[in-house]
Amino acid sequence: MKKPASTLGNKNKFLILGCGFSGSFFAKTIRNFGCTVLTSSRSANKDPNSFIFNSEIDVVPDDKIFDGVTHILSCIPPDKNGNDPVLESLQSKLQDLSLEWVGYLSTTGVYGNTAGGWVSEIDQPNPLQKRSLNRLNCETKWIESSLPVQIFRLPGIYGPGRSTFEAIKNQKIRVILKKSQVFSRIHVADITHAIIYLLQNKDNLKFHQIINIADDEPCSQIEVIQYCYDLLGLTMPKPILFETAKDELSPIAQSFWMENRKVSNKLLCKTLGYKLIYKNYKLGLKNCFLNS
Ligand SMILES: NC(=O)c1ccc[n+]([C@@H]2O[C@H](COP(=O)([O-])OP(=O)(O)OC[C@H]3O[C@@H](n4cnc5c(N)ncnc54)[C@H](OP(=O)(O)O)[C@@H]3O)[C@@H](O)[C@H]2O)c1
Repeated sequence: MKKPASTLGNKNKFLILGCGFSGSFFAKTIRNFGCTVLTSSRSANKDPNSFIFNSEIDVVPDDKIFDGVTHILSCIPPDKNGNDPVLESLQSKLQDLSLEWVGYLSTTGVYGNTAGGWVSEIDQPNPLQKRSLNRLNCETKWIESSLPVQIFRLPGIYGPGRSTFEAIKNQKIRVILKKSQVFSRIHVADITHAIIYLLQNKDNLKFHQIINIADDEPCSQIEVIQYCYDLLGLTMPKPILFETAKDELSPIAQSFWMENRKVSNKLLCKTLGYKLIYKNYKLGLKNCFLNS
């Protein structure tokens, strides 16, 4: 007989380290389960549940922030030296706590370029970019930390307030055509709800240390942009060929176009049984359109 799902509730205290786009969506949602949630940012703000953590200037949270913490989610990317800001500044502190779970948001950039082929968690990472190599090193450090860590590899994150609609509105859109190029994506709500699903079913599901969270339908960027223009009732500008556009792109933008892969979500959605809220960009973007 299946054990009942674990409950998340007022006995749980979450620290969200790096409360940016994904972290704040997670914090807001998990509070609805009755959990205590404290969030970090690099500078002071008016949120009474927020504290300052800034590894760049060695500002670490006060000890009392850690009292009774059961769960930690780190959403902080590697620092400019390629190190993990949380492990660099807080590892021994975290090791002294009785943590039930630690989540680390990573990227599917660690898989590198597969010329459009699928990648899954059993594939050997093969980072192409220096930043992805740094990320893989941070993943390794988390695994070696002996903390009860689960790593989530994410493709392009979007959601209300951060999507192609903002790029169109801010006139930052570039409609670039590169034959056979696809990108994977994930709506911010699915990052949060997939993690919550795994936490709630922790006792019933086999533990996997590395899990991709991606939607079902990797596709070209042009399809996504066209869909947004259609929802806005506007005409999409004429596409520019990648070869023509590339010299005007920033080095970071160019590097994204150098990698072509489809991220498999089979482990999360088939093996572990999570049901995506937004299984493709159309459903996800409609949500952004209605909420921005
Ligand atoms: N955006 C994407 O499409 C994407 C795709 C795949 C993976 N990821 C990765 O997934 C994670 C979450 O992404 P996101 O887009 O939600 O992140 P985000 O909005 O950029 O938030 C990052 C957070 O990290 C904090 N931070 C950065 N450097 C720090 C440091 N040295 N010390 C302390 N805090 C620091 C920031 O603090 P402040 O609040 O003070 O700015 C912010 O709260 C990141 O690791 C990101 O690299 C992102």
